[in-house]
Amino acid sequence: MDKLLVQGPCQLNGEVEISSAKNATLPILAATILCPYAVKFVGIPDLMDVGTILKLLQSMGIKVSKHDHEIVIDATQLDNQHADYTLVKTMRASVLVLGPLLARYGQASVSLPGGCAIGARPVDIHLTGLEKMGAHIEIENGYIKAKCNKLKGAVVSFPFPSVGATENIMMAAVLAEGETVIENAAQEPEIDDLADFLMSQGVRIEGAGTSRIVIHGMKLSELKAPSKPYRVIGDRIEAATFIIAGIMGGGEVKVKGFNPSHLQYVLDVLTKMGAKFEIGSDYVLVHQSPRLKGAMIETLPFPGFPTDVQAQMMALMSLVEGNSVVTETIFENRFMHVPEMIRMGAKIQLKGNAALIEGVESLSGAPVMCTDLRASAALILCALVAHGQTEVQRVYHLDRGYEKIDEKLTKLGANIQRVRG
Ligand code: EPZ
Repeated sequence: MDKLLVQGPCQLNGEVEISSAKNATLPILAATILCPYAVKFVGIPDLMDVGTILKLLQSMGIKVSKHDHEIVIDATQLDNQHADYTLVKTMRASVLVLGPLLARYGQASVSLPGGCAIGARPVDIHLTGLEKMGAHIEIENGYIKAKCNKLKGAVVSFPFPSVGATENIMMAAVLAEGETVIENAAQEPEIDDLADFLMSQGVRIEGAGTSRIVIHGMKLSELKAPSKPYRVIGDRIEAATFIIAGIMGGGEVKVKGFNPSHLQYVLDVLTKMGAKFEIGSDYVLVHQSPRLKGAMIETLPFPGFPTDVQAQMMALMSLVEGNSVVTETIFENRFMHVPEMIRMGAKIQLKGNAALIEGVESLSGAPVMCTDLRASAALILCALVAHGQTEVQRVYHLDRGYEKIDEKLTKLGANIQRVRG
C-alpha cells in the first residue's frame, strides 16, 4: 500500500486545475447502460472509482475504450445484467447501475453494496422508489434481484433527499412508460449534470437541481447519441479541498476549472471566518489571509454545507483562533479523521454527531492512517502545515477520489513524496 511522506510546514502558491467531478462521473457512466449507441466523453478523471465502474460496465459486455482522459462507451449490446459483489464491494456507487438496467432490460441482479467506513449506507430509498415504478425486488444471498415487465412512471416521494436514489430513479424513469415525478429530490450539482447528460440525448426533464424533478419516459429508439463529446462538471469537492489548502498554506493559490456557485455555502463560511479570495466564473483565487476565526457548521443536503467538505474544514478549524463546532447530520460515522488529527496536536472533542474544535497555534507531523476518502484529504491538509514529517498511510483511499493530488500539491510548493508500497 502506497504512503505519502509530507514535510511541513509549507506555503502554497500557483495555479491548480480541478479535475471533473467523481460524483457526477459515476452516475453518468452508469447512465450509458441506457444508450444503444457509442457515447464519447472527454476530461474523465483518472480515479480508482472511475476504473471500478468501467470494469463493472465491461463485465456486463459493454465496450469501453479509454485513451488518457477520453473514453468511448458503447452499450449497444449487453451480455448480462449482473453487478458482481467482487466489484460492488469496492465501490458502493455501483448500485447506480440498478435503475438503468431495470429500465432497459426489465431485470437486474446487483450485489448489495454493503456499508463502508462512514456508515451503513442502506439503499432502501432506491428500492422503494423502483418498486413504486412497478419493479419486483427481492434480496437473495446478498444480491438485489429486481424484475419488471416495463417500469411505469410514478410519483416517488423521498423521505430523505438521497443523492444516489435521485440518480437511480431519474435513470429508471428515462425508459419508463409515462411521467415520473421525484419529490424531495436531491439538489446537488451532480444531479443537474446527470440531467444535462440525459437531456443531451433527447430526454425531457424539468426541475433538475430543485427538490421536484419531472422525467418524461420515452422509447429506447427515441434516444439519440449526444451531438458532441460530453464533459462532466468540475469537482466542487476537490476544489474546496484545494481552496482550504491554499488558505492553510498562507500563500496565493488560483483554483480553476469548476463552478464556484456549486460551493456558495462553503465560500460564505470561509468569508465569515476571515478568508480572503476573489471569485471568478470558473475559479477562486485565494489570497493570503490573516489568522481565521472559528465557526459553527452543520452538514446538510445541498445547498447546505456539504458533508464531503466536513473533514477538510475541520483541518482548517484546528488552526484558527478560537473555537468551532462541526455537526455531521448526513452520515453516522464521519469523524474518523479526528483521532488522527488529535495525534498531530489538534484539540477536538467529540460528542455524538458534534465535534468541538479548539484552535491551536500549530500541529506536529506524525504517522497517520487514512480511513476514508475525505478523511484522507483532511490529513494531507494537516500534514502540509504541520511541523516535521507526516507519514500518511493507506493512501489508496485518497486515490479513489482525487486525481494525482500529491503531484498537484507538489506543483503548488508542497514537499510530498509518494512511497510505493
Ligand atoms: C453521495 O453518496 C456521494 N457519493 C457521497 O460522496 C456524498 O457524501 C453523499 O452523496 C451525500 O452528499 C456519490 O455521489 C458517488 P445519499 P450517496 O444517498 O448517494 C442515507 C464522497 O466522499 N440513505 O445522499 O450514497 C445514507 O445512509 C462520497 O465522494 C438511506 O438511508 O448519499 C446517508 O446517511 C462519500 N437510504 C444519507 O442517506 C438510502 O436508500 C445520504 O446518502 C440512501 C441513503
